[in-house]
Amino acid sequence: MHGSARVSKKVTCTALLLFIVVIIYCLINLSSRIQTNPFTGDIDDDEKIKNYAEISLPFNSLRNLTTYVRIYRDIRKKLKSNKNQFTTKFEQDTFPWLNDKPMLDFVGKNMSRGIVVCMSDKYMNVGLPALLSLNDLGSQLPIEIMYYGENDLSIKNRRKLSKVPNVVEITDLSTKFINVSLRSWAAKPFAILASIFQHVILIDSDVYFFQLPEKLFDDHDYVKENIMLFTDRSLEKDTARTKWVNSILPPPFSKSFNESRMVRGLARDEIEAGVVVMNKGNDDIFLGLLVICVLNVPPYCIYPYVHGDKETFWLGMEMIQKTFYVNPITGVIGDVVNDIVCGQIAHGNRNKRLLWWNGGLFQDKFSRPFLLNFTYYSWEPTDQYFSWKASCLYVNKTEYRKLDEHERNLIRKYKETMQNVCRKMAAEGESCLPSLKTK
Ligand SMILES: *[C@@H]1O[C@H](CO)[C@@H](O)[C@H](O)[C@H]1NC(C)=O
Ligand SMILES: *[C@@H]1O[C@H](CO)[C@@H](O)[C@H](O)[C@H]1NC(C)=O
Ligand SMILES: *[C@@H]1O[C@H](CO)[C@@H](O)[C@H](O)[C@H]1NC(C)=O
Ligand SMILES: *[C@@H]1O[C@H](CO)[C@@H](O)[C@H](O)[C@H]1NC(C)=O
Ligand SMILES: *[C@@H]1O[C@H](CO)[C@@H](O)[C@H](O)[C@H]1NC(C)=O
Ligand SMILES: *[C@@H]1O[C@H](CO)[C@@H](O)[C@H](O)[C@H]1NC(C)=O
Repeated sequence: MHGSARVSKKVTCTALLLFIVVIIYCLINLSSRIQTNPFTGDIDDDEKIKNYAEISLPFNSLRNLTTYVRIYRDIRKKLKSNKNQFTTKFEQDTFPWLNDKPMLDFVGKNMSRGIVVCMSDKYMNVGLPALLSLNDLGSQLPIEIMYYGENDLSIKNRRKLSKVPNVVEITDLSTKFINVSLRSWAAKPFAILASIFQHVILIDSDVYFFQLPEKLFDDHDYVKENIMLFTDRSLEKDTARTKWVNSILPPPFSKSFNESRMVRGLARDEIEAGVVVMNKGNDDIFLGLLVICVLNVPPYCIYPYVHGDKETFWLGMEMIQKTFYVNPITGVIGDVVNDIVCGQIAHGNRNKRLLWWNGGLFQDKFSRPFLLNFTYYSWEPTDQYFSWKASCLYVNKTEYRKLDEHERNLIRKYKETMQNVCRKMAAEGESCLPSLKTK
């Protein structure tokens, strides 16, 4: 009796042990399966990723591209810096110009801050004085100059630019990305991407500041969102464009998107990209920047629908559902002509003080090479649209503001600096006047 009880106990024990072993084996197997499963999205995403292998690329629409960019974003977040079959393939298909280089190569030096500007021979006359003005202002930010290939910026001009105070790097974009042509507008987002800085202020070559550009990095909305954009003039309505912008992206939409003037049909333009501030060290901003680049080159380039690169900056962020800050203080700076302020487009801070303006020191960079008389500025009224006629802003006279002494002194310095550049250029047989036909 004792013997058979012992045997049955032994059998139970063995069975239990076997059971435990089987359970452990199953668990290990399952977890390794989870780890080796290339598609770690939700079940819904799994289906979509399986479909991805069968889609003939490029996607037939921005909507479809956006759906997959969002799946890619989610999987990337789960995998951290690891990759799987889907993310590897998606990156090669969507960002082919990266040429499989590690993303970390493009994030910039940790915590670094600087100014990035695209330059070419044809903008030297406007761009060189504008860069020198940063020194007049007392900016300490390092500057990186970008150009695209040997024919874009001559060795002579590169040498000149290398002598501008705070210029630390002159970079040929054509050596950074493959199989993509980056002339004109498209160079701008790629210049941010290629920059050695983590926190970047991208400026057009004819942008001038009234306040230290480094202050932009301390703006609490920049610190919160890691991106700062500026509002464009509200010139006129464009129903075709409003229809387009309301159809290209899948929902849900952000508050900023919903409230934008282009989406609401209140204006043709949204963003003035003369100055763009971005922190590439933020993962969402970095991905958004890659998507912005995508919108500037074939096959997904949106230039047929909007004017140049400027709208790509917010639409790219909206595509990956990254919230963004758009500074709303936009207006005009110049002189009073026939009772209205006419001149260049200007931007202010939240105290409505002048921050920067676009278009250089001349009255009209396209046709009139006379120095602009910088005496007044005024801001576009909020929620009142189409107050512009050409380069003049029609607002109540009570809204005109006079430049203060400090601002007028800056203008004086900037004009002197430009005239010095002009004299040197004239001695070399070149003209510093803006050419009548620029982009
Ligand atoms: C792409 O969009 C079309 C509608 O334009 C839709 O019929 C199709 O299923 C979408 N494809 C994918 C892969 O999502
Ligand atoms: C960047 O620098 C900060 C401050 O020195 C540090 O806390 C952080 O870990 C650094 N990040 C990386 C990615 O090295
Ligand atoms: C670059 O483009 C050419 C022509 O379209 C193609 O043959 C080549 O494979 C591309 N190179 C890479 C690395 O994608
Ligand atoms: C944006 O507008 C849509 C309707 O077009 C609405 O369903 C959605 O809730 C809005 N989103 C936000 C964040 O307000
Ligand atoms: C600039 O504008 C102010 C105020 O309108 C005027 O007094 C001044 O004469 C102008 N200067 C030039 C050079 O036109
Ligand atoms: C301009 O503003 C003043 C003071 O607010 C007001 O009395 C006047 O009616 C306004 N003029 C116009 C044309 O709106």
